[in-house]
Amino acid sequence: MRARAALASAAAAAAVLLLLVDGCACVMYKVGDLDAWGVPPPSKPDVYKRWAKSTHFALGDSIWFLYPPSQDSVLQVTPEAFGTCDLAAPVLKLADGNSVFNLTTPGRFYYTSGTPGHCRKGQKLWVDVPMANGTYLQPSASDLGALAPTPAEAPEGSLSAFAPDGAHPSPALRAVAGAGSVVAAALLSFALPLLL
Ligand SMILES: *[C@@H]1O[C@H](CO)[C@@H](O)[C@H](O)[C@H]1NC(C)=O
Ligand SMILES: *[C@@H]1O[C@H](CO)[C@@H](O)[C@H](O)[C@H]1NC(C)=O
Repeated sequence: MRARAALASAAAAAAVLLLLVDGCACVMYKVGDLDAWGVPPPSKPDVYKRWAKSTHFALGDSIWFLYPPSQDSVLQVTPEAFGTCDLAAPVLKLADGNSVFNLTTPGRFYYTSGTPGHCRKGQKLWVDVPMANGTYLQPSASDLGALAPTPAEAPEGSLSAFAPDGAHPSPALRAVAGAGSVVAAALLSFALPLLL
């Protein structure tokens, strides 16, 4: 069973980088934790969806994609392009192998691999960024359309995505960052709460 396989391979720990810049205790999250950005393996087809749902982002955080630049890239795309895996007109494309997207605006943001075929194989995710006071914006019609089930995808948890589950490491980690000074950076690992 897929869930058990995921459990077994739960050397799954989360990788988080804390950055204290100009008083912002922002957190940089490595997308997929310890796995590089790539086509999800058959044992973890939902790895990115699960990762994004288990992470509570705050305004000012960033997400970090690490991958071999010869093999992959990251596109930020519209909800419509996300739903159809249309790579033609990305909002933003980064392809240097070490790509950081800054979550500076509240809302839902969509990312996919820029390599043809990878999006349809599940190398895609969205993140929900709340307002500064922690409130999430209501999903737009486009957001709901992007999540409409396609033949290739089960309609799993489309609404619960608006209230991400799982523990958020950042209050404690922000406190750590706040105690530091200048550009305090720490690479930490912690157990990823399993969602099943
Ligand atoms: C994110 O912010 C960092 C630091 O301010 C900046 O260097 C980087 O270019 C930004 N990334 C994007 C994609 O705008
Ligand atoms: C957060 O801010 C938004 C916009 O200013 C407001 O509509 C909402 O009620 C606030 N939520 C809380 C919990 O204060």
